[in-house]
Amino acid sequence: MLDQLEQVEQEALAALEAAEDSEALKAWQKRYLGKKGTLTLMLRSVGDLPREERPVFGRAANELKTRLEEAHQIRAQALHRADLEQELKRGALDVTLPGRPIGPGHLHITTQTLRQIYAIFAEMGFQIYEAPDVETDEMNFGLLNMPPHHPARDMWDTFWVSDELLLRTHTSPGQIRVMRERYPEPIRVILPGKCYRYEQITARSEHQFYQVEGLAVGHGITMTDLIGTLTEFTRRFYGPERRVRIRGSYFPFTEPSIEVDMDCILCGGEGCRVCKYSGWLEIAGAGMVHPVVLENGGYDPDEWSGFAFGPGVERPAMLKYSIDDIRMFYGNDLRFLRQF
Ligand code: FA5
Repeated sequence: MLDQLEQVEQEALAALEAAEDSEALKAWQKRYLGKKGTLTLMLRSVGDLPREERPVFGRAANELKTRLEEAHQIRAQALHRADLEQELKRGALDVTLPGRPIGPGHLHITTQTLRQIYAIFAEMGFQIYEAPDVETDEMNFGLLNMPPHHPARDMWDTFWVSDELLLRTHTSPGQIRVMRERYPEPIRVILPGKCYRYEQITARSEHQFYQVEGLAVGHGITMTDLIGTLTEFTRRFYGPERRVRIRGSYFPFTEPSIEVDMDCILCGGEGCRVCKYSGWLEIAGAGMVHPVVLENGGYDPDEWSGFAFGPGVERPAMLKYSIDDIRMFYGNDLRFLRQF
């Protein structure tokens, strides 16, 4: 009987070595150690042996069982490891393959335009001041001389965040922030940033767009400084041959208020579709800072004066590059974006 055990051991170990996958391992387990497995049956037959042989055989059979179980475990681990390696090999990256070329990106046309504007105003001594996109009702309207229910609020359709908070409809609230921060220093800043309006999207209007507010506060600042600054900006941005025209306008936060036009870049003032046959294109709203706004910023209007202006960014870029639809800016069409 002990010979038989030895034979079973040799045979079982050889079969285990030959098992190449988990299915084969399971079959091996069933064949040797399962309920009706060879070794199990041999252990059950101990009772049939002569009494004196039983202890020796029983111990030898149990030891063999332990050895086979250990061998099975080792083989199972080895197969698992091999499987894993195989899996890794299959999913491995071939780092020697050439990659898909990703062309170098470039700045978006809005960013390029913003940077041109920054550069021009920097040369005229304007610093950049950043104000938040989410504003209070008070900053966006109230302190800009538009108390609740002021009809001028209707000029700006608003995205409300709560009863008191909104997405700024223009960059003008930054005027109050910068004044309150800088008082009693004189100020010469531009405030670029995104504005939001609950408006129909059309070829000329987006519901998110950029503006670059300008603000100068000092002693003896006059309308001629404002006109000179905007004329200089227009000629540097659009070309030295540009002519500028000033019209009276209305904003609650400037007094007097003006609208700045330039001669049409396409027809040179002759009249065409772009300028609606007027020969002129509007480029910015502007004016002298209203005394109430100066006061709200902490500056005494009897001592200080200032000017402010607020052109967009996409519309000037449209004029400069002859783009006839503002929706192209954020439509993510690379055929458009690559042109700039
Ligand atoms: C204002 O927002 C004033 N805060 C400007 C201002 C500042 C006046 C300081 C006086 C002193 P207005 O609503 O006209 O004004 O907008 C200014 C510019 O923002 C427009 O000339 C235009 O270039 C741009 N703009 C306005 N609405 C849109 C829109 N929906 N899509 C794209 N650009 C827009």
